[in-house]
Amino acid sequence: MLDILNLDSLEERARALLDPMLFDYIDGGAADEWTLAENRAAWTRLQLLPRMLRGVADRSLGTTVLGTPVSFPVLVPPMAFHGLCHLDAEAATARAAAAEETIFVASTVSNCSLEAIAEASTTGARWFQLYVYKDRAITQDLVQRAAAAGYSALCLTVDTPYGGHRERDARNSLRMPAHLALGNFPPSHTDQHHHGTGHGSALGQYIAAQWDPGLTWQDVDWLRSIAPMPVVIKGVLAPDDAALCVEHGAAAVIVSNHGGRQLDSVPAPITMLEAVCEAVDGRAEVLLDGGVRRGTDVLKALALGARAVLVGRPLLWGLTLDGEQGVRAVLQHVRGELDLAMALAGCASVADVPRELVLR
Ligand code: FNR
Ligand code: LAC
Repeated sequence: MLDILNLDSLEERARALLDPMLFDYIDGGAADEWTLAENRAAWTRLQLLPRMLRGVADRSLGTTVLGTPVSFPVLVPPMAFHGLCHLDAEAATARAAAAEETIFVASTVSNCSLEAIAEASTTGARWFQLYVYKDRAITQDLVQRAAAAGYSALCLTVDTPYGGHRERDARNSLRMPAHLALGNFPPSHTDQHHHGTGHGSALGQYIAAQWDPGLTWQDVDWLRSIAPMPVVIKGVLAPDDAALCVEHGAAAVIVSNHGGRQLDSVPAPITMLEAVCEAVDGRAEVLLDGGVRRGTDVLKALALGARAVLVGRPLLWGLTLDGEQGVRAVLQHVRGELDLAMALAGCASVADVPRELVLR
């Protein structure tokens, strides 16, 4: 089993195994990477005020997200190209999520097809993350395939009309390795990732060519009309946008800045969480991602109103280091840190983590 002292320590260990271009793609953020750093720094500005003598010998970390039971309030977010980290790609990550009894969110741009992911983790709960293609027939086909393959929610990512200005990828002229395919698409799409159209990030070029930057709230209504499953909206920071998500029928909202990879200078999601929860006012579940690296981070998000959080890059480091078992080890480590943090803070159950736990 992968030996983990803390999640941060995994980054350098994974870096040693990865092609620098691919490490940069996973690790990096947009422009000056101010938001990328802020996603971590923001947690350190929040302090916990623990309560004592509350009887914490028996703790329960389980909860539900959109009615699906999870063993602890940490989900696997959609991330592109797990094949960059390990040959088993998303099949390994999805199996690990299933084994640890949490939800796996499959990216539109996975290396395994969405059907192969479903087959690899038949017992696991899965959501499908959607990028909307200019060619609406492609989009519609993805939604239908996801429904047919048993994905229980559609996670629409709304912060990516274009790829962010990722300088590391531009400098490296990011290309996908020749042995990897875009699992959900015909070979012509994979070709675009292998070759690009010139200097710069082939992924950025693919996004500009294929994804629809013209999306509006009306398209959310359209998606709801064609999707038989609930729609989750990922990538909202403004409370007013969170309210619009609810008005347009979203079952859940993920407060996220895409791990600092899209617009630089935006706030860390944790700084917006309370205001978003206020705007949503219990009408949808609120989730959050961005720089969650500690059990205490999870606890802070729960106290400020999140139903659950998602942990991104560390899972890809775990996948790089030890495949499915590495991802399991990362999830187990986070669960262990959360469990201890709850005990030390006087919380026996994730259902009663009080607002007062985070100092105002
Ligand atoms: C992502 N993210 C992402 N989000 C999404 O909706 N669809 C996607 O395909 C991807 N792809 C992707 C690739 C890689 C390599 C990374 C690191 C991230 C964003 C992801 O879902 C999540 O919002 C962040 O990763 C959370 O931040 P942390 O935990 O990585 O700091
Ligand atoms: C990324 C895209 C694919 O963050 O979502 O790289």
